[in-house]
Amino acid sequence: MVEPDRDAPGRGHPPSPIRCVVTAGPTREYFDPVRFLSNPSTGRMGYALAGQAAARGWSVDLVAGPTELPEPDGVLFYPVETGEEMLHQVDALLPACDVLLMTAAVTDFRPATYHEQKEKKDGRSRSVQLEPVPDLLATFAERRGGHPRPLLVGFAAETEELEAHARAKLLRKNLDLIAANRVDGPAGAFGAERSTLLVLDRQGRRQEWGPAPKVELASLLLDRVEELLAHAPTA
Ligand code: CTP
Repeated sequence: MVEPDRDAPGRGHPPSPIRCVVTAGPTREYFDPVRFLSNPSTGRMGYALAGQAAARGWSVDLVAGPTELPEPDGVLFYPVETGEEMLHQVDALLPACDVLLMTAAVTDFRPATYHEQKEKKDGRSRSVQLEPVPDLLATFAERRGGHPRPLLVGFAAETEELEAHARAKLLRKNLDLIAANRVDGPAGAFGAERSTLLVLDRQGRRQEWGPAPKVELASLLLDRVEELLAHAPTA
């Protein structure tokens, strides 16, 4: 028996919107209540994607680390701070989602010990043991098993060998698509209004966009995701 295509055009109701989770901004890993390890991500790319997706009628959950940006209109906003919080928040949203756009700059290491009280300085040097923060994308890819959805889209910020590193991440983390850009200098692409993107998929397709405003790049990437979703079988 062939199931009716409820979303077929002309059936009297609009097709259901694409449901996406976007992560954005940096995460923070605290040593004590007032000190943390983080990175210069401003969240601009993720916020641009969330805003553009909402504007085209997608249902958007935005899970973001601390940024100074205003919440885009039409998104559900979930503020988080640490990588662990981001992991749990995204995990809770993922079952009802078609695509995860993981732009967050997750801080890769966290202090192995957290001090409940502010650590007092005593003029001496000290060393801090760091432990790895779980890799969110790799965790979600593993949980997804062989299922085609949600589609997993990663981002890569690289200082050298952009394409080789991006392709390696695409394969290692088992992603459907990766969007990579170059970071030069201490803050590099972070915070810039314009950027470039190199987009790679698992079938070997390679696209290069920009330099262009981040909202334009976001829109091109959403077009690409719509294309992929149109061809991905529903789980
Ligand atoms: N990412 C993640 N969990 C982490 C670190 C990164 O899900 N703990 C995601 C990022 O959100 C991004 C992608 O993985 O979509 C690539 O992140 P990037 O920082 O470029 O790479 P890393 O995996 O951290 O690898 P490396 O630091 O070795 O470049």
